[in-house]
Amino acid sequence: MAMPAATASAKSLLKRLLSHSSYPTATKISNYRFSISATNKATYATLRSKNKSTSENQREKQKQKAEVLVKRRTRSEREIDEEGFSREYGNDNSAHVPVLLGEVLDVFASVPLKSFVDCTLGAGGHSAAIIQAHPEMEFYVGLDVDPIAHQIAQARINDVLGKDSGLSKKDLRVHTHLKNFRSVKTVLQDIDVNPLNPGVQGILMDLGMSSMQVNNAERGFSVLCDGPLDMRMNPQDSLRAEDILNLWPDDEVGRILRDYGEESNWFSLQKRIVRARLTGGLHSTNELVGLIRNSTSWTKKGGRQGWIKTATRVFQALRIAVNDELNTLKNSIYSCFDCLASGGRLAVITFHSLEDRIVKQAFLDIVNKEGHLSNSPKFETYKEKEAWIKQMVQGPNACVLTKRPITPSESEERLNPRSRSAKLRVIEKV
Ligand SMILES: C[S@@+](CC[C@H](N)C(=O)[O-])C[C@H]1O[C@@H](n2cnc3c(N)ncnc32)[C@H](O)[C@@H]1O
Repeated sequence: MAMPAATASAKSLLKRLLSHSSYPTATKISNYRFSISATNKATYATLRSKNKSTSENQREKQKQKAEVLVKRRTRSEREIDEEGFSREYGNDNSAHVPVLLGEVLDVFASVPLKSFVDCTLGAGGHSAAIIQAHPEMEFYVGLDVDPIAHQIAQARINDVLGKDSGLSKKDLRVHTHLKNFRSVKTVLQDIDVNPLNPGVQGILMDLGMSSMQVNNAERGFSVLCDGPLDMRMNPQDSLRAEDILNLWPDDEVGRILRDYGEESNWFSLQKRIVRARLTGGLHSTNELVGLIRNSTSWTKKGGRQGWIKTATRVFQALRIAVNDELNTLKNSIYSCFDCLASGGRLAVITFHSLEDRIVKQAFLDIVNKEGHLSNSPKFETYKEKEAWIKQMVQGPNACVLTKRPITPSESEERLNPRSRSAKLRVIEKV
C-alpha cells in the first residue's frame, strides 16, 4: 500500500537526521534496546519513576486546584466565635471538637425538634449543643458503637440536663445505646413505636473517628503512634486490620487499598504486604508505616509528606474495610430517611470523598430522580428564612437542601485542622 506523502517525508527526514547525528540507526536502536545494560536499566527505571511521579504530582496539583475552587463555592459564611472556642478547648489537643457545629445548629434551628437522633455520639458535643438549643425536645436518642464514646457522651448530656438548659431529665426522655446506626430503625421501634409514627424531626450523622479514638494508640487508628493493628470502632467486632493484612487473599488486599484508599501505588504495596507474611506478617502500626515508608522512598514523592499521605490513605482503606463503613453508610441513609417525620431533616457530615459521594448519590436517589433545581416559591421562602440554603433539589418525597455541600469556614479550619475535609449535606422529608 502506498505510504501517505506526509508520513513518507517524515520517515525520510528521520532517516536523514539519524544518519547525520550521533544517534544509532533504527536497526541499531532496536539492538541497543535489547542489549541494554544493568546500569541503563536502573537509569530507565529511575526515569520512568520520575515521569510517573511528575505526572502524579501534576495530577495532585490539579486535584488541589479543583478542591480550592470547590471550597470557594461551598465555604460556610458563618464565622466561628474564636474567644468562645479557646475558652472551651484552649490548648487541649486531646479534646474532640465538634465539626461544623454552628452550621448543624442552623440546619435544625427552624425545625421544632420534639424528637432527635444522634447516630454518632462521639464526645456528645453536637448532641449537647442541640439539646440546649431546643428546649421543646421531648425525646432524644444517641447511638455509638464505641463504649468509651458512649460513656463520655452520656456524662456530657447528663451534665447539660443538670445545668442551665431549661430542660430536666423528666421533660426529656434520653436514651443512649451502644449500637451501630445501621440498626437505627429497630432501636427506635424497641424504645417506643410512637416516635416512628409520625417519625422523628431531626437526625445527625457525624461520620469518621473521634479525637479520643485517634489519640489512643491502642486502638491502632493513628499513623503517628505505635499500637496494635486493630482499627475496630466496636471492640466487640471480630475483624481487625491485622487479619486483613496477614490473612486475606492478595487481590482483596489490593482491592481495598485501591478502592477504599484511592492509592495509586496499591499493587506495589499489596505485593510488599503479602511478602511480609513470609517473615511473620505485620502486627503493629509502626511495622505497617515502616513498610509504606520503604515503598515510597524510591519515588520522587518520598520524604515525610509522601509517606504520610500514602500511610493516611492505607489506614483509611483498612479502617473502612474493618468497620464495613461504606455499606453501612449507604444502607443507613435510607433507614434514617424512613425514620423522619414529614418536615424532618437528616444532616450528614463526611470526611472523605468516598463517603461524600455515597451521601450525595443516596440523597439524589431519594429525591427520586424527578427532582429539579428549584426556583419554586417554596425555595424563595426557604432562602428568606434560612440564609445557609443556597440551592435545593426538590422532588415529590424529599428536598435536598444542600445541592452543594457546606464546608467549614476559614476560621474553623484554622482553629480545628481536623475539620478541613468535612462536608455537610442535608435532606428534608416532604
Ligand atoms: C466524629 S465522631 C462524632 C463526634 C460527635 N459528633 C461529637 O460532637 O462529639 C464519630 C463517632 O461515630 C462513631 N461511629 C462510627 N461509625 C458508627 C456506626 N456505624 N454506628 C454507630 N457509631 C458509629 C464512632 O465510634 C465515633 O465515636
